[in-house]
Amino acid sequence: MGKKKRAEKVRFSPEQEALLEQMRGDLAIQLEKKPKRLAHSLSVARTAERLAATYGVDPFLAHAAGILHDWEKARSTSEQLARARELGIDLGVELELVHSLLHGMIAARTLPARYPELPPAVWHAIAVHTSACAEMSPLDEVLFVADGIEPLRPDTPGIERSRSLVGKVPLDDLFWESFVGGITYVLEGGRYLYPGTIEVYNALAARRAGRAAKEKA
Ligand SMILES: [Fe+2]
Ligand SMILES: [Fe+2]
Repeated sequence: MGKKKRAEKVRFSPEQEALLEQMRGDLAIQLEKKPKRLAHSLSVARTAERLAATYGVDPFLAHAAGILHDWEKARSTSEQLARARELGIDLGVELELVHSLLHGMIAARTLPARYPELPPAVWHAIAVHTSACAEMSPLDEVLFVADGIEPLRPDTPGIERSRSLVGKVPLDDLFWESFVGGITYVLEGGRYLYPGTIEVYNALAARRAGRAAKEKA
């Protein structure tokens, strides 16, 4: 590992520390049968906090979002599908086809009642950590990228590349790299690609092209 960038431990208020500690404890119970998922979640939280500190995003919100983002992964796929239907989640396609996108959306609808201290920005980041959206906030981007590059993920060339870009390129570009890498992974695996993802891709690609043209002019 290279030298740490601006990643000194961020100090939170005692109230914030207490809430994070409570959420970690709750998650350990929630994911007690899934120790790898628990380790991943805590790793995403630390990675998100570091990314947030690097890119001027609130590190507390990033850490909190990281802890909770995969909360609903405690449930089986069929349980997630049933819950999504109960909640009226409609993605315009058979939910079975996009079951891997649902856990963030479910958590974003159910967890606010449990943690009313956390603002809507956290729930939005959790809702879009699987699918992304055309209007990603910096916190959304931090969580999305942290989920993809946290150190417990295997060192694939794409992930290694994203890790090497942290702090060197703007957050938007780092997110783009991660987002496109995710789509490529879906395509290479011959998996179903959610049409909403293509829309998000095109919206972001058009915006990036417009920005590049402006910079050239
Ligand atoms: Fe997830
Ligand atoms: Fe995750």
